[in-house]
Amino acid sequence: MRKFDKNAADTYLVEAVRVARWEQYSLGDRLPFHAMWYTVPPSSSSPRDRHPEVELSIVVSGSAAVEAGGTITEVDDGSAFLLDSEEAHVVHNRCTERPLVVFSAYWMPAELGGGEPAAVAGASGAAVAGE
Ligand code: NI
Repeated sequence: MRKFDKNAADTYLVEAVRVARWEQYSLGDRLPFHAMWYTVPPSSSSPRDRHPEVELSIVVSGSAAVEAGGTITEVDDGSAFLLDSEEAHVVHNRCTERPLVVFSAYWMPAELGGGEPAAVAGASGAAVAGE
């Protein structure tokens, strides 16, 4: 078992958002995805993001107002949201007091050449790719 301590992680700022990427843990190919935590301060938003990777996000604390596809969807702590490949998104923290903390896992879908990490994961990776 290996613990990943968010409070001890190396972070950097992307505009207002503090990001802690899991690359710092040097996991190599052990995971079939990339991962990060990010924190959006109160009354702030993430930069507009769009990328080929599919992105699954779990709200760790606070509440996310996720803007994608022309709508804003509120996602509370403990719930999750999935962004498709090339789906533009902005994550707003509308709370004026509490930061929003999100954990995201992201990976290249199989049709865009993401087969390598899925092969490492074996059957479970294939299930994700076949979703
Ligand atoms: Ni993104």
